[in-house]
Amino acid sequence: MGRSGPIFGRLLAWYLFFGAFFFPLMAAVGAPPPRYRDAGLSVEERVEDLLSRMTLAEKIGQMTQIDRSVASPEALIQFAIGSVLNGGGSAPSPAADATEWADMIDGFQRSALSTRLGIPILYGTDAVHGHNNVVGATIFPHNIGLGAARNEKLVERIGRATALEMRATGCPYTFAPCLAVCRDPRWGRCYESYSEDTEVVRSMAKIIAGLQGTPPPRDHARGYPYVHPWGRSVATCAKHFAGDGGTTGGVNENNTVADYPDLFHVHIRPYLDAVAMGVSSVMASYSSWNGVKMHANTYLLTRVLKQEIGFQGFVVSDWEGVDRIGPDYKNSVKLAINAGFISDLTDLVLSGQVTISRIEDAVRRILRVKLVIGLFERPMADRSLSGMLGHAAHRTLAREAVRRSLVLLKNGEGRGKELLPLSKTASKIVVAGIHADDIGLQCGGWTITWAGGPGNTTHGTTILEGIKASVSRRTEVVFSEEPDEHFVAANADAAYAVVVVGERPYAESQGDDPVLTLPREAVRTITTVCRRIRCLVVVISGRPIVLEPYVGAVDALVAAWLPGSEAGKGIADVIFGDYDFTGRLPRTWFRRVDQLPMNLGDAHYDPLFPFGFGLSMNIPPPDLSSS
Ligand SMILES: *[C@@H]1O[C@H](CO)[C@@H](O)[C@H](O)[C@H]1NC(C)=O
Ligand SMILES: *[C@@H]1O[C@H](CO)[C@@H](O)[C@H](O)[C@H]1NC(C)=O
Repeated sequence: MGRSGPIFGRLLAWYLFFGAFFFPLMAAVGAPPPRYRDAGLSVEERVEDLLSRMTLAEKIGQMTQIDRSVASPEALIQFAIGSVLNGGGSAPSPAADATEWADMIDGFQRSALSTRLGIPILYGTDAVHGHNNVVGATIFPHNIGLGAARNEKLVERIGRATALEMRATGCPYTFAPCLAVCRDPRWGRCYESYSEDTEVVRSMAKIIAGLQGTPPPRDHARGYPYVHPWGRSVATCAKHFAGDGGTTGGVNENNTVADYPDLFHVHIRPYLDAVAMGVSSVMASYSSWNGVKMHANTYLLTRVLKQEIGFQGFVVSDWEGVDRIGPDYKNSVKLAINAGFISDLTDLVLSGQVTISRIEDAVRRILRVKLVIGLFERPMADRSLSGMLGHAAHRTLAREAVRRSLVLLKNGEGRGKELLPLSKTASKIVVAGIHADDIGLQCGGWTITWAGGPGNTTHGTTILEGIKASVSRRTEVVFSEEPDEHFVAANADAAYAVVVVGERPYAESQGDDPVLTLPREAVRTITTVCRRIRCLVVVISGRPIVLEPYVGAVDALVAAWLPGSEAGKGIADVIFGDYDFTGRLPRTWFRRVDQLPMNLGDAHYDPLFPFGFGLSMNIPPPDLSSS
């Protein structure tokens, strides 16, 4: 490998020097358009033709992904950058609408198209529960809630809706879905995981078919990336390969200790489903497996993922694919344009430490995806789709998803003593808790900003608004964020109280939590209200948290996860009995953190509520034939 270095070096220097003059010259004298532009040829023919025209600098540029905040036209053109992304919270302006997003992405595209070969960029975003960086987009429940709903058709529909909202802003690529199998809720990304159970994660991987479209079975080679070419689907990225949810103590990006069969059966199997559906890319995990960093793990990335599983899309990492910039790629220095990556990689190739075939493998895979999704034919945003952002039909779908994701954990002390369904005609009711009237808190992390945050951060319906819209006009609804004894005494005649409490938003390592206790104000609200008024407690959280001390004090208990922008209507649909509860725990609800990790099948299994638990109110399903 080392000895071929100088020869490659000279060849590449030649390419770098003359390539830039030669090809435009040929085009200028009226040569036919290059084969890679011929949509009549196969993707592979076009890839090979394009690859054969690229200089080393263009190949490395193609492998480079930069944040939108550093993507100046000069940078995009000078380095022939292949991909631009926005990290969580990175937006063209604070409340940019669909048009502003599309204008920005089209602007990057115009720079890319003006380069020598005119290879369009692939613009990516973390659309992990809807198109969540964009104000006004529909925010769906986070994955843990969808794992509770356990409905493949539902996630497929959510995938389609999310793809449309992304296309409304001109964005063709999402860093989703997260196929982590979270084995320890102390992990700050546990809510991005559908379940502790690999089978549930496998079935929820079906969201890929919604986002990308379903490949026609006959034409589709196993492992070949597929995105429906109609311009309303988006490329996806299954993440984080592999073992991200298995780290010791649930510490983010830490070490997963497992033998290969365990790693395969628990953490890798969902990737087989993703690859079979034509997933476009796979993100390497920053965690380690038995002490070896995943993104340096040639055995798992090359031997297992590419060769054995047959994956033919591209791997996103700080080495083979793209640089880690932005929140998901946190350790990156936001280097002016990543010059470090580009010059380091160039040096490594020129000195023979990285073979050109390795570079070409990566570039071939990236070009393949760009051609599959039709970027060369249709690089610009389709402005006719701008009305799809936050479309009413998508909000209705999100409301349905909320409804199906709710898990009823307790309902009174036995037959005849149920609190739910709640009466819509009580003369007075209490609503309490800081999560009851706050869009930001009900959406959680990865919402408008990277970590999410409280307040009126985007459009939606709060739980208080959902309750007010459901009860009779004569019902008095008394609300307090943090009720004290006086408030409760003054309203002790209320028929019932709905207490909405939970975790504050967080993302990634910042959400790692060794204690998993409710915030102090939440405990105070539960104990103050539930002592005097019959109460339903709705828990807004990204994972099971310590609840055992309070279960006896509450009359009814619902796990609502991180339900998103349509939480208000979706929760009201169920607590007032228009629909029954159908969600089942996608995770074991532990009693004490000293039991963790504790998953279904463990010898020391002694949960507060077991995996799969979920009560119902025995309400007959609504009669759809009459409507
Ligand atoms: C895991 O976390 C510990 C404690 O923070 C740290 O010392 C160690 O380096 C981490 N291991 C890996 C593989 O990241
Ligand atoms: C929240 O923001 C939306 C628009 O961003 C606005 O229509 C709505 O009135 C705001 N609600 C409150 C309570 O401020």
